[in-house]
Amino acid sequence: MQVRPARPADYDPIVTVVDEWWGRPIAGALPRLFFDHFHTTSQVAEFDDGTLAGFLVGILSPAEPEAAYIHFVGVAPAARGTGLGRTLYERFFALARAGGRRRVGAITSPVNAGSIAFHQRMGFTVTGPIVDYDGPGKTMMHFDRDL
Ligand SMILES: CC(C)(COP(=O)(O)OP(=O)(O)OC[C@H]1O[C@@H](n2cnc3c(N)ncnc32)[C@H](O)[C@@H]1OP(=O)(O)O)[C@@H](O)C(=O)NCCC(=O)NCCS
Repeated sequence: MQVRPARPADYDPIVTVVDEWWGRPIAGALPRLFFDHFHTTSQVAEFDDGTLAGFLVGILSPAEPEAAYIHFVGVAPAARGTGLGRTLYERFFALARAGGRRRVGAITSPVNAGSIAFHQRMGFTVTGPIVDYDGPGKTMMHFDRDL
C-alpha cells in the first residue's frame, strides 16, 4: 500500500467507483474541479499492484485561514477496517497543521452511519441532523475537530 498526493488524472478512476463504494449515487457531489484545483491537498492510496485502495479530497480554505475541510474520503471495501481511513485523515491533519490550520470540518448524510462512527473515532464533534443544510431537503451531519 502506498499513499501519495493526488493528481488531476486520478479523477477518472475514482469517479467510476464512488457509487459502488458508497452504496448509493454520490458521484454528482464529486466534480472534476476537486482534482484539477485541489489535488495538492488531496491524497490517493494504491495497493501494491497500483489499483485504487482509497482517497481523500481535502482543502485548505482560501477564505478562512485557520480552517481546513475534508470533502470526500473513501476506502475500497476490501481495505476497510485496516486503518487506511485513519492514515488518510492523519496525513491530511499534518498537512493542514503545516499550512497553519487550526481546525478541520466535514459533513455527511444522516443515513451514513459508518461515516458518523468513523468521524467520532477520529475525534470529531458531531452536530446535527441540520435540516436544509445544503438546500431544501438536504439534511446533513456536521463534523468539527481541532488540529
Ligand atoms: C468511512 C471509511 C472512509 C472508513 O475507512 P476505514 O479505512 O475503514 O477506517 P479505519 O479502518 O481507518 O477506521 C478508523 C476508526 O474508525 C472506526 N470505524 C471505521 N468505520 C467504522 C464503521 N463503519 N463503524 C464503526 N466504526 C468505524 C474504526 O473502528 C477505527 O477505530 P479505532 O482506530 O479507534 O480502532 C470507509 O468505511 C468508507 O470508505 N466508507 C464509504 C465511503 C464513505 O462513507 N465516506 C465518508 C463520507 S465522505
